[in-house]
Amino acid sequence: MITLGDKQFEKYLSATDVQHAVNGVAVRIGDDFKDKNPVFLVVLNGAFFFAADLIKRFTYPCELSFIKVASYEGLHSSGDISTVMGAEPSLKGRHVIVVEDIVDSGNTIEAIIEILNQEQVASYAIASLFYKPEAYLKSFPLDYVGMEIEDRFIVGYGLDYNGLGRNLKDIYILKAQQMTNLVLFGPPGAGKGTQAALIKDRYELVHISTGDVFRYNMKNNTELGQAAKAYMDRGDLVPDSLTIDMLRAEVEKNPQAKGFIFDGFPRTEAQAAALDELLESMNSSVSGCVALEVDTEILVERLLERGKTSGRADDQDESKIRNRFDEYNEKTAVLKDYYRKQDKFHAVDGVGSIDEITARLTAVIDQL
Ligand code: IMP
Ligand code: MG
Repeated sequence: MITLGDKQFEKYLSATDVQHAVNGVAVRIGDDFKDKNPVFLVVLNGAFFFAADLIKRFTYPCELSFIKVASYEGLHSSGDISTVMGAEPSLKGRHVIVVEDIVDSGNTIEAIIEILNQEQVASYAIASLFYKPEAYLKSFPLDYVGMEIEDRFIVGYGLDYNGLGRNLKDIYILKAQQMTNLVLFGPPGAGKGTQAALIKDRYELVHISTGDVFRYNMKNNTELGQAAKAYMDRGDLVPDSLTIDMLRAEVEKNPQAKGFIFDGFPRTEAQAAALDELLESMNSSVSGCVALEVDTEILVERLLERGKTSGRADDQDESKIRNRFDEYNEKTAVLKDYYRKQDKFHAVDGVGSIDEITARLTAVIDQL
């Protein structure tokens, strides 16, 4: 793993993989352009390594020119392209091979094609070392692609993150796990609320309690709240997709969050899969599922004790209390399995002082 600025990246492709891709492109371009004296129009800055390796392998007459356009800031294309440096000398009547490091949205290529049309070139072809088909928004065909990659941010071999990483020989990909996303389980009375509040402050996480999110949406009569209410009024269960939409809205309200504590969700395997999908769409994932475990007998005692002073009817009836635990154990069993299979399940002993339990939780979270 490497760090560039504020982001972490992990190895994605080796220098050898890259050379294979370059070779493939070089061979095809050689076949197509050997007697055309093409101009390689290199898109700066990112394509300089690719261009160097590619053009060395083109053993026929050719010329070289550079163009510089700017659209990227950090991890995202801004959409506005400006020409920083134009092609010299004129490309009029020439066969031009655009050499690009990576095609993402296609905005850059579109701008370059426009320039080539204005220049009245004889023909043009696009060669890009990398191409992200899922991100591509245009319909111009890409004539030579070294390698298709998933829609994630990469650096190395000329490609940068805020200017850094161009000198790496291998290709690195932005680490998915920039956030700490916790799924928190705990039976009633285990001290989940208390611990969630402490953990949230300590790691600067956003605590998303599904119950609170529902109440908020219903109370404020949001579109999602209205939709949920319609199901409830009919006596139907709110579908997972709607719950996920509410969570997504909550997550999107906090784009700067270092992560989230999901509390009261997921309740089913389908919901757990939906949560994975939501986080994946943000290039992230569940870091771990942490369950506060307290022996049922101790909890029954605790709740009965609490019932004496709280006056909560559901805390006074032992059989009702036991029912709540049974329900909890049944519901969480499949989720424990779900996260265990991914090696993400962590049981934490929930008996002790608040500080002791927090210390156990942070020991687990720091390892994630
Ligand atoms: P497009 O205009 O969205 O197609 O983006 C093309 C330009 O954005 C490339 O020339 C790169 O400079 C930059 N770019 C796109 N994706 C990445 C990436 O994953 N890593 C680094 N730069 C990228
Ligand atoms: Mg570029």
